[in-house]
Amino acid sequence: MKRVLKAITSIMEAARRHRPYDYYSPHMQPLPSAIVEYFPHMEKRKSFSWVPHKAMVDKRFKNVGWLNWDESHLLYNYGLRYSHKKLLEIGCWVGWSTVVFGLSKIKVTVVDPVLDGMPQGEACRDSLSRAGLLESIRLVPGCFPAAVQGLVAKGERWSMFFIDGDHEGDAPLRDAQQCHKIAEPDSIILLHDACQANTCEALAWLERQSWQCGVHYTSQLIGVAWRGSMQPLTHIPDPKVHWKKMIAEHWPWVAQFRSLGSLGTEVRRDSC
Ligand SMILES: C[S@@+](CC[C@H](N)C(=O)[O-])C[C@H]1O[C@@H](n2cnc3c(N)ncnc32)[C@H](O)[C@@H]1O
Repeated sequence: MKRVLKAITSIMEAARRHRPYDYYSPHMQPLPSAIVEYFPHMEKRKSFSWVPHKAMVDKRFKNVGWLNWDESHLLYNYGLRYSHKKLLEIGCWVGWSTVVFGLSKIKVTVVDPVLDGMPQGEACRDSLSRAGLLESIRLVPGCFPAAVQGLVAKGERWSMFFIDGDHEGDAPLRDAQQCHKIAEPDSIILLHDACQANTCEALAWLERQSWQCGVHYTSQLIGVAWRGSMQPLTHIPDPKVHWKKMIAEHWPWVAQFRSLGSLGTEVRRDSC
């Protein structure tokens, strides 16, 4: 009987440890809490990755995830730090990451084919409107890089990029190569899903073009390339996660890049 009870207790303990939760790095400016009101169809679910942080999706389009809570805070803080700069975002889906950046007051141009009459693009416009950002963010329907060629031809350049578009094959590499071409001398490129080998190939390519590169340890991992006067932020990864082990076991291609943060002792869990 004692052994059965012990087994049940350890199963319950393991389940508790794997229950997904929200985390964000200490020393980050919190996201405005009203952001959740701009996304009435938001749903939190089990993580898409090995990290037990909650993932976020739109209930109507559950197949594609958004930045999670930790990543949203990190990118909001990038926006705050560089709010006087211009950002090109590749891939908005229903607009969560776009609103995150928009709330920081950085000047956003966003390109995505869903903005060309698809329901996800309409959802994005609706959330931007609820956030009071519809007029201040430039929406470019279509695929990167073709859809921004007109702007580039007129001399437009950006100093911050967020690449979260097509994740298949060599698409992240092609996106990185195009961003490299249209980046200001002082620039920073953020790549979502550095847990994917092809995203790390894109980051390694940027490193060969003399960009400095590193990775933020978040649920999906965020790659960063920077040059000139722009610098990455310091993000403290969730100390409850054994990052080195996880990367060695599941994402060995990430180990070639330095971690842009250090393990801290403070843990912050909260929910929206
Ligand atoms: C993972 S979702 C973006 C999620 C969003 N960044 C967030 O965190 O809220 C990827 C998006 O990239 C878009 N996409 C795919 N290929 C693209 C391309 N070539 N140019 C721009 N957007 C693209 C898709 O339509 C989709 O909306």
